[in-house]
Amino acid sequence: MLDSAGKVAERGAELVARVLRVRPNAVLGLATGKTPIKLYRQLIGKYRAGELSFGRVSTFNLDEYLGIEPDDPRSYRAYMEREFFGHVDIDRANTHIPACPPGENPKQVGPRYEERIRHAGGIDLQILGIGQNGHIGFNEPSSSLNSRTRVKTLAGKTVEDNSELLSPGEFQPRLAITMGIATIMQARRVLLLATGAKKAAAVAQMVEGPVTAMCPASILQMHEYVTVLVDEAAAAALKNRAYYDLTFRENEALDERFGAYYADS
Ligand code: PGA
Repeated sequence: MLDSAGKVAERGAELVARVLRVRPNAVLGLATGKTPIKLYRQLIGKYRAGELSFGRVSTFNLDEYLGIEPDDPRSYRAYMEREFFGHVDIDRANTHIPACPPGENPKQVGPRYEERIRHAGGIDLQILGIGQNGHIGFNEPSSSLNSRTRVKTLAGKTVEDNSELLSPGEFQPRLAITMGIATIMQARRVLLLATGAKKAAAVAQMVEGPVTAMCPASILQMHEYVTVLVDEAAAAALKNRAYYDLTFRENEALDERFGAYYADS
């Protein structure tokens, strides 16, 4: 738990930087939405300061809308360009987004995307946000906990939350292609960021509730290596906060003393 959304982004960027120091050719899983924008700013800052290079990094985004062209400013491709790719030394050929080219069967995109992830050697670090309804990617409540990249119908709540980013009367996508829950669970490490009071209930359900498809993020309780970074407001409904703060500090102290440890490095 950290004091502010700014601190969450700072700490998150430090964690990404640690992974890239150990593995400069890491495969990163990327998220869109409001939350990771500050994290991307931090990473851009580190790149500009010469602390980080993305020259050998590959990326796989979690999701993309169906029916929106890549050059449409509302697409997640455009978001990534605007918020991150356009400001660092990443090779666009190594950036992947599960978009469906016009005229193609969207149901074929998922298996192809899975194959690309496998071919790249799997995701080293997956960055995630969480929806107010507990979704990760666009895996809405009731999504199979064993799902793979596929077409998903957005939940009413997601459509409502996302409409804040659209002008009134604009076409609003109701379908998307998203990495599945099993795809996310296969990432070697997960970094989930949540900020603001609107996320408090979802964060508490994810961490302290039952593992259930009705809160897709709760499956992360079964992941081997997850870091959840939250600000005060998003942590407000957690019952066991003092203990989480303690374990976080102890872990940080070990990492500071011995360096971050990766079993596979
Ligand atoms: P947000 O979205 O960062 O815009 O709140 C998070 C999500 O829906 O996963």
